Amino acid sequence: MSAARSVLLIVGGGIAAYKALELVRLLRKAGIAVTPILTEGGAQFVTAMSLSVLAGAKTRQALCSQEDEAEIDHIALSRAADLVVVAPASANLIAKAANGHADDLATTVLLATDKAVLMAPAMNVRMWQHPAVRRNVERLIADGVGMVGPDEGEMACGEYGPGRMTEPQAIFEAILARLETAPKPLARRHVLVTAGPTHEPIDPVRYLANRSSGRQGYAIAAALAELGAAVTLVSGPVALDPPKGASLVRVETARQMLDACRAALPADAAVMVAAVADWRPSVAADHKLKKVTAGAVVDLVENPDILAAIAAPGPQRPRLVVGFAAETQDLQANAAAKLRAKGCDWIVANDVSQEGVMGGEDNSVTVVTAQGGEAWPRLAKTQVAAQLAQRIAAALA
Ligand code: CTP
Repeated sequence: MSAARSVLLIVGGGIAAYKALELVRLLRKAGIAVTPILTEGGAQFVTAMSLSVLAGAKTRQALCSQEDEAEIDHIALSRAADLVVVAPASANLIAKAANGHADDLATTVLLATDKAVLMAPAMNVRMWQHPAVRRNVERLIADGVGMVGPDEGEMACGEYGPGRMTEPQAIFEAILARLETAPKPLARRHVLVTAGPTHEPIDPVRYLANRSSGRQGYAIAAALAELGAAVTLVSGPVALDPPKGASLVRVETARQMLDACRAALPADAAVMVAAVADWRPSVAADHKLKKVTAGAVVDLVENPDILAAIAAPGPQRPRLVVGFAAETQDLQANAAAKLRAKGCDWIVANDVSQEGVMGGEDNSVTVVTAQGGEAWPRLAKTQVAAQLAQRIAAALA
């Protein structure tokens, strides 16, 4: 199971809430991202802190928390995961969900989501058998909600019968089964990605290059493949393993990269992350230049602009063309100018003046479109990749 799979976990009220902590642990161990939502009832039994620590992600509680909504609004939150899980699902939460109430974050998310929902009910046996609860559960099942459990057994209140929340392991397995069958958002889409530097030969042993590590482009190719896309990754020379699920085309020069990109079309989207050398030596010597000649000036000519070529209007133009822009100053203004000049749809501008960005593990990006710029917090390159892949999937949907 891959890290790109994610679950939005709503923890409702009831003593079984403590078992949700074990469920989070199992999911994280399997590499599944968990975003917890804790209801008011749930908070009587477990703390947001315990959930956050185990999930490695912030627990959300209030519907209209200014701070949370600035990060991601509740509608986006409801769709950001592959699956919504309610464990435990109390009689009250089930009743509200069955009747379409939206009076807190959990119920609002349940109404707004376009993802599959799985509930693990937990309540007293008499409550579980009450006709009102039976009705509500039937209605939710008719609405397409999956149910796992409850189990039969001794309950915390001392009674015996069905109503006890299924064990975390069984809920975990039900989640896995659903994630595996969930259709991937980029299935049947072809995405072209470029990555790495280009090497522009001066002679057989020397070349012009730059410090690009290729990490961001490789992470994006992997994240797109995770979402089901067929990915062609055209890569300059880098020392990275080919990303799982992408088809890798290795090139050296900008002109080879352009040819490989053209050959990869048609594509639904193109994400040009490569740090293409803007210039190349006008002639690459056939033989190694001798010291006596190397003191001379290397004459440079401009390379083709691959992004502009792929974004140019025409029958082969991908529906979405995304460029990257390495900037050290006036990030947004420069990126907006590049967006127009190159004719692409989005520019992901990265601030390479920040320490550790160029060639490092992190990235600090602003996504610029014709509508304006959106600055993302500084994130690991793999996280930038995952978020960008989700956004591309949404744009192509
Ligand atoms: N790019 C390209 N071909 C080139 C140069 C750049 O495809 N010959 C693409 C990069 O892959 C990136 C975007 O254009 O997606 C912007 O790259 P950047 O180096 O920031 O822009 P330049 O056009 O080179 O502008 P400058 O160096 O003047 O900032």
